[in-house]
Amino acid sequence: MRQHSFPRRAQSDLPARLAAGRPSRAPAFRFDASAARHYRLLFENAPDGYLATDSGGTILEANQAAAALVHLSPGGLDGRTLASFVCAEQRDGFRNQLRRLKRAPPGVTREWTVRLQPEGADRFEASLTVSCLAEEPRDRIGLLWSLRDVTRRRRMEEKLKHSERRYRLLYAETLRNRDALRTLSARYLYAREEEAKRIAHELHDEAGQITAAIHLALAEVEAELLPRGREKLRRIGSLIEGIEERLRHLSHELRPTILDDLGLTPALAFLASGFAARTQVAASVKGSTGGRLDPMVETALYRIVQEALANVGKHARSTRAEITLAREGGNLVCAIRDDGVGFDDRSVGRRIGRAAGLGLLGIRERVGALNGRMQILSTPGEGTELRVSVPLRPR
Ligand SMILES: Nc1ncnc2c1ncn2[C@@H]1O[C@H](COP(=O)(O)OP(=O)(O)OP(=O)(O)O)[C@@H](O)[C@H]1O
Ligand SMILES: [Mg+2]
Repeated sequence: MRQHSFPRRAQSDLPARLAAGRPSRAPAFRFDASAARHYRLLFENAPDGYLATDSGGTILEANQAAAALVHLSPGGLDGRTLASFVCAEQRDGFRNQLRRLKRAPPGVTREWTVRLQPEGADRFEASLTVSCLAEEPRDRIGLLWSLRDVTRRRRMEEKLKHSERRYRLLYAETLRNRDALRTLSARYLYAREEEAKRIAHELHDEAGQITAAIHLALAEVEAELLPRGREKLRRIGSLIEGIEERLRHLSHELRPTILDDLGLTPALAFLASGFAARTQVAASVKGSTGGRLDPMVETALYRIVQEALANVGKHARSTRAEITLAREGGNLVCAIRDDGVGFDDRSVGRRIGRAAGLGLLGIRERVGALNGRMQILSTPGEGTELRVSVPLRPR
C-alpha cells in the first residue's frame, strides 16, 4: 500500500490534542517534537483503522489502515462523512445511531457492525467501535473510531451457526433413531420371550403327554412278557425317563415357570442353586424385590442374571457368586458379584458387541429397553461386579 503523508495540520497537533484531553489528575505530559513523531508513527501504523470525526461523523483524521479499508488515501477521507461509506440500505439507521450518540453522556463507547461500501470495491462487514470524547470537543473532534473488516469473522460465525444447526438436527435424528431402535429391541425381546414361553409349554405339556402314553403302552406290553423281556422294557422305560428329564430341563431353560408363578426372587434363588450344582461355584441371592414386579422387568432381570452367571462360569474362575436385590428410590438395583480373575473394565466399551461375545451387549440392550442403567466394576485379580438399576413400574 502506498504510504500517505498526513497534512501538516494533522501531523503536528493530533497527539497533543488527545493528550490535552487527559483528566486533570493525570500527570502532565509534555509533548516535544520527538514524542509527537512517536505517537504519529503508532497512529499511522496501527493494524486497525482509526478515525477522528466531529460529533456529526465528518472525518477529520484517518490512519492508513482506515483509508486502506475503503480503498482511499488517508487524505482522501478528510471532510467525507463516515455515513457516506455505509451501504445505502443501512445509512439512515447509521445516521440515527449517530444522532442518538450525541445525546449519550461523554466518555461513552458503543460497538456497531455495519456494511461499508468502498468506492469501486466490494462491500464488507465492518466492526466499528466509537468513543465520545470525555471533554468538550476541541478542534471539532468529538468522536474517535476504530474500524475492522470482520467479513471473515462473520463468515466463520455463519459457518459455525450452520454447522451447529446441522449438528443439532443430526443429534435430534440420532436420538430419534436410538429411541426407535430401543422400541424395536424391546419388541424383539418381548417376541422372543413369548416364543420361548410357547415352545417351553409345548415341550413340557405335549412331549410330556406323549412320554406318558409311551409309559402306559410299555406297562401293557410288560404284563405280557417273560421276566427277561420285562427287564429290557424297564431299561427302555428309564431311557425315556432320561429324555423326560432332559425335556423338563430344556423347557425350564427356555422359560422358567417359577418366574411367572412365583416372581423374580424365588426364580433367581432357583437359578443360583442350579448354577452352583452345575459349576461348583457357591452362588447365593441376598435381598429381595419387595414383591412382584412388572413382568417385563422380571423377565429382563432374570435374563440379565442368567447371562452374568454364565459369564462367571465361563470367565471368572471364582469360588463364589453373589446376587443382591434392593429397592433404591424408585429403582430396583440388582448386582452380581464374583471373586474371580476380573478384567480391565476400561475395555468394556470395546468388548461389548465384539464378535467374540454378545452377552454384555444383550444385557445393555435389555437395560436400555427399560430405561435403566448398567455399570461394570472390575479389576484384574479382584473380581467383577455387574450392577443394573431399572426404574420400577407398577405391575
Ligand atoms: N465375570 C467376569 N469375569 C471375568 N471376565 C468377564 C466377566 N464377565 C465378562 N467378562 C469378560 O468380558 C467379555 C465379554 O463378555 P460377553 O458376555 O459379552 O461375551 P462372552 O461371554 O465372551 O460371549 P457370549 O456371552 O456371547 O457367549 C468376556 O469375553 C470376558 O473377557
Ligand atoms: Mg457372556
